[in-house]
Amino acid sequence: MDEFDSESLYEHDGRHVWHPLTQHQDYHHSHPLVITHGQGSTVYDINGQPYLDAAAGLWCVNVGYGRQELTDAALRQMQQLAYYPLTQSHPAAIELATRLSHYLPNTPHIYFSNSGSEANETAFKIVRQYWQQQGFPHKTKILSRFRGYHGTTLGALSATGQPERKRNYGPMAPDFVQVSAPYCYRCPFHMQYPSCEMQCAEDFERRIQIEGPDSVAAIIVEPIISGGGVLISPPGYLSRVAHIAKDYNVKLIVDEVVTGFGRLGALFGHELYNTKPDIVTMAKGLASGYMPIGATAVSDEIFHAFLGSTDSGRHFRQVNTFGGHPVACAVAMANLNVIEQDQLVEQARATGQYLEQLLSDQLQDLPWMGDIRVQGLLAGIEIITEPETKTPASDAFMRALGRRLINQGILAGKATDVETWHNNILIIAPPLVIHRYELERIVTGMAHAIRQVGQAPPVHV
Ligand SMILES: Cc1ncc(COP(=O)(O)O)c(C=O)c1O
Repeated sequence: MDEFDSESLYEHDGRHVWHPLTQHQDYHHSHPLVITHGQGSTVYDINGQPYLDAAAGLWCVNVGYGRQELTDAALRQMQQLAYYPLTQSHPAAIELATRLSHYLPNTPHIYFSNSGSEANETAFKIVRQYWQQQGFPHKTKILSRFRGYHGTTLGALSATGQPERKRNYGPMAPDFVQVSAPYCYRCPFHMQYPSCEMQCAEDFERRIQIEGPDSVAAIIVEPIISGGGVLISPPGYLSRVAHIAKDYNVKLIVDEVVTGFGRLGALFGHELYNTKPDIVTMAKGLASGYMPIGATAVSDEIFHAFLGSTDSGRHFRQVNTFGGHPVACAVAMANLNVIEQDQLVEQARATGQYLEQLLSDQLQDLPWMGDIRVQGLLAGIEIITEPETKTPASDAFMRALGRRLINQGILAGKATDVETWHNNILIIAPPLVIHRYELERIVTGMAHAIRQVGQAPPVHV
C-alpha cells in the first residue's frame, strides 16, 4: 500500500469501483470494508480490524484463507506454464478432470469454464445441442424453480427464479420456465408435508405436461436452493424430480455451485438425495475462490452423442479463453488435496450439527424467528416481524442487522434482491475449517443483533 492510505483507498473506491448489489449513493455517508488479508475463517480490513467471515466470501472459501498449499501450487504452475488453452491440452487440466471424474463417476466428462454462471450456460447449450442431434429439435425448454439462482449471464439469469434479480434486464431468454419451490415454511400450495404428497415436485410433471414433453430439454435444480434462502426440500423430493425427468425424457442438471465440495457435509449435495444427474455444474468451492474456475460434468451418454466425423458438426462449438486455466486447475487440485487430507467434508458434517444445535439453543425462541434451516455448514435463518402472519422482516431491517453484525466483527450472508418484500433470510456459510468457538461467537452475535434491531426496528420497516 505505498500509494494509497486508507482514506484515499475509500475515496478511489467510491470513484472507480462499481460494486455488485450495492446502492452507491449509500457510500456518500459510508464505505465498504476494504479487506487486505485473511487467515482461517478471519479476514482483516485496511485498519487491521478482524472479521469472522461467516459467509466464506461468497460461500466459496471452503478451505479457509491463507492456505500455503494453494499458493505454492499457483506459483509452481505459473512458473511452469502460465497459460495454454484447452483447444489443445495440459497436465493440470487432465489431472483435475480425472480427479473430478473419480468423484462423479456418472458424469465423467468435464468441460471447464471460469464461473458458476458459465458452467450453467455450458450445460444449457450442451443439452440443447444434444437433443437436436438426437432428432428432437424442439426440446429446448429449461425448467427451474422460483427462488433458485443459477447465475448472472442472461441464460443463467433466465433460469433463475428471482424476480428482483431479473427486473430491468428483460426480455429474458425464451424457453426458460419456473415451477414452485420446495419451500415448506411458506408452502406455495398452503399444504403440509407429507400429506401434501410433494406438490412442489409434482409441479415439474404438471409443467412438463403443459409445455409438452417434446419441448422440454432439461430440469436444473440446486440440491438446496442456496441464495434464494436455504430452502431444504423434504425427504424424497429430489429423487422424485429425477424420476419425473426420466419418465419424460428430460435431462437433469444439478447445480452444485454452492453445494459442492463439502458445503452440505457431503462432497456433492446430490449424494445426500440419492440422485444421479445427467450433468453436474460446479464452481465456487472447486478452488475455494483462490482462482476463478467453473466446470460442467457430463454423462457418458450425452458425451457420446457429440461424437461423429470431423465435419459432422456434432462437436461442441464453444470455447472459453480461460476455461481450464492451468493455474486455476493446479490450485483446484491443491484445494481438493486439502479437503481430502484435512477431512473437511466430515468436519463440515460434524460442525454443521453443532451449528444447528447452537441456532436452536440461542435463536429459536426469539420472537423474530421464523424458521431455521441447516444442512452441513449452510444455514438459513428466516427473520419475521409478525409470528401469526409470518411477515418477513423488511430489507431495512435486514440491512440494519447486517450493520450490527459488522459492528461486532461478523460478516454474514443474506438473501439479497430475490423477491420484493421477501429477502428476510440471514445465511451462514463459513469456511469448512471454522472452529466451534468461532461458530459460538457468530451465533451469539446474531442473537444479540436480532434482539437489538427487533426491539428498535428501523423507521422504514
Ligand atoms: C447456485 C448457484 N449457481 C450459479 C451461481 C453463479 O456462479 P458465479 O457467480 O460464479 O457465476 C451461483 C452464484 O452464487 C449460485 O449460487
